[in-house]
Amino acid sequence: MNGSDPEIEMIVRGGTVVDASWSGPADVLIGGGRVLALSAPGAPLPPGAEDAHVIDATGRLVLPGGVDAHCHVGYTSGEYTSLDGYRECTTAAVFGGTTTIVDFAIPQRGERTIDVAHRQRELAAEGLCDSALHASVIEWDDTTAEQLAQLCAEGIVTVKMFTTYRGETMADADTILNTMKVLRDHGGMAVVHCEENAIIEEDQRRSVERSEIDAAHMAATRSELAELAAVSEVVALAESVDAPVYLVHQSTPAAVELAAAARRRGVRVYTEAVAHHLVLDDARYRGENPERWVCCPPLRPRATVDALGTYLAKGEITTVSSDHCCYDLEQKEAHVEDVREMPNGLPGVETRLPVLFSRYVNGGGLDLRRFVELTAANPAKVNGIYPRKGALMPGSDADIAIWDPAEVWTLEAAKLHMATDYTPYEGHEVTGRPTTVLVRGTVVVDAGELVDGTARGRHVPSAPLDPAAWLV
Ligand code: URP
Ligand code: ZN
Ligand code: ZN
Ligand code: ZN
Repeated sequence: MNGSDPEIEMIVRGGTVVDASWSGPADVLIGGGRVLALSAPGAPLPPGAEDAHVIDATGRLVLPGGVDAHCHVGYTSGEYTSLDGYRECTTAAVFGGTTTIVDFAIPQRGERTIDVAHRQRELAAEGLCDSALHASVIEWDDTTAEQLAQLCAEGIVTVKMFTTYRGETMADADTILNTMKVLRDHGGMAVVHCEENAIIEEDQRRSVERSEIDAAHMAATRSELAELAAVSEVVALAESVDAPVYLVHQSTPAAVELAAAARRRGVRVYTEAVAHHLVLDDARYRGENPERWVCCPPLRPRATVDALGTYLAKGEITTVSSDHCCYDLEQKEAHVEDVREMPNGLPGVETRLPVLFSRYVNGGGLDLRRFVELTAANPAKVNGIYPRKGALMPGSDADIAIWDPAEVWTLEAAKLHMATDYTPYEGHEVTGRPTTVLVRGTVVVDAGELVDGTARGRHVPSAPLDPAAWLV
């Protein structure tokens, strides 16, 4: 340490540090909101550290705070707007060990991509933790290329598009291709929801004929084939113009295999899975209150869920996100008789890491470093915010989640912090819990309680993605 370094204000002592690149016992020295150094356990402290606040992490895991690359905050789709703002969403995030969210700025028809992104970016300041942003294109016009170039220059480099939701957010293939080309040339990347809309509308038409369009029949209204068809086309579009692409919420091994095959031929394809597709299955639609699990793509059969899980350790899944969408029961129940009129999406920003940890790390064979890679490092890398986020190394923001890997607790909506009155995991017993969470060196959650609710969120600009290199 020389005189110009920030002073050591805090030390997380005695824990096992787990970064994607390294893990072992170490003390974490923090100052100026950053990680200053990792030091061998019990090593003599540098001068000036005597007054530092010490957090005892003995017996705990010390992880970089999670990065949730797929989070819809206050999302309007059709007649429904999800119920959280940045304050609520990030409060739930930090309780769940996540310290950076990546939200979407999705236009309504007629709104400009850039205006919506600028408006949404301002909301970051209401958060308890930092956030990055995906812009979105739903219709191509003469000004779109320029808007995208400007957004990339400003640090919003990822752009969401949908191959479904006709009449709302669906983009046609020309729009997707044009967007990919511009992003490729400006250090950006398309982020695509892949479900072939024509197949879905046909699935739904047949469901109506059978009088099976209610929530109990959700799974049959959006087939795995629809997902495969769209993944195949979107990968081909990216390949045809040598552009990178990030495929959100891939829910079946077949879709993951399509992406993996493209990667083997050199296409820069990244695969996202979401926690609920890795844990919950379509039996939920056949039980009570099926509307609580209505999401796109829908939950899949148990064999599919378990097979998807095997790809986590194999490395063919790049990230695990939440696809957080915070509707409440009143919204979910309003149109249970017709899934076409229901709000799609599940609340999950707070439960993503605990359910994944419990199911796949504790007894599921997922290596802890790989857990950090999937949930923090890789999401930060593909969004151009690594190693400021998603890493626990000198220079990184001191966004840290200290976990008790052995705490057994029960997920209940009443004890969670998302702005809704239910959780898809009600009554699930999980093992492992983030108990103390730091945002840029400030303890915000301690012993499971909010100890600092200051709105200190910042929009984190993404660095341009290197068009010549793999991001992960
Ligand atoms: O059901 C979902 N996933 N709703 C949120 C919007 C989307 O498609 O990601
Ligand atoms: Zn989606
Ligand atoms: Zn989504
Ligand atoms: Zn209605």
